[in-house]
Amino acid sequence: MREPVIVTSATTEELNADVRAAIVHVCRTAHQEDDFLHLFSYIPSGGIHVLAYRAQELVGHAVVTTRWLQPEGLPLLRTAYVDAVATLTPYQGQGIGRKLMSHLASVIADFEIACLETDRVSFYMQLGWEEWRGPLAGRKGTELLPTPDQKGIMILRLARTPPLDLDRLLVIEYDGRIW
Ligand SMILES: CC(C)(COP(=O)(O)OP(=O)(O)OC[C@H]1O[C@@H](n2cnc3c(N)ncnc32)[C@H](O)[C@@H]1OP(=O)(O)O)[C@@H](O)C(=O)NCCC(=O)NCCS
Repeated sequence: MREPVIVTSATTEELNADVRAAIVHVCRTAHQEDDFLHLFSYIPSGGIHVLAYRAQELVGHAVVTTRWLQPEGLPLLRTAYVDAVATLTPYQGQGIGRKLMSHLASVIADFEIACLETDRVSFYMQLGWEEWRGPLAGRKGTELLPTPDQKGIMILRLARTPPLDLDRLLVIEYDGRIW
């Protein structure tokens, strides 16, 4: 019988070198993107990592960091920004990503909204995420940086999310990157 998948979460600070290496491996191979070798220099601290294990093997990962979104007409919202969502390639299509993202939703209840950027919009739509339809921009200091070509920005409404109009402008505070 196949081992069950267990999902847990840990802060960046709690991850030892072996777990960090396993996370980099899962993300790098799933996305076929070597930039994930630098994941822990982009997220040196303060992340919440969601980890899916089958027996001792890490088979899925996602990380949440705090960023700030401002939908037009609303105050800045404390945002759970989701990155590095990945299921180890041989295990994809078995429900691990779904399980990972539903656990993730339970660890971000204190945030005011969640956001991510993806080219797998349909996967997240099935999990309650909604694609932003209106214009998008970053804000660096007082400068607005429109991102008209950006696709696949999705939000998840949480208990604390105010009423939203997905057709209005959505601005994200620049923190070394825009989306
Ligand atoms: C996107 C990704 C994280 C999804 O993880 P996953 O573990 O494959 O996700 P699931 O198995 O829960 O769901 C994947 C699909 O399989 C389907 N599925 C879920 N459980 C299933 C099962 N038991 N049997 C067959 N299919 C299943 C889902 O409905 C979903 O369908 P979709 O392709 O229409 O979205 C994973 O495929 C991945 O790492 N891809 C490469 C990197 C990437 O694109 N990351 C996301 C960008 S932000």
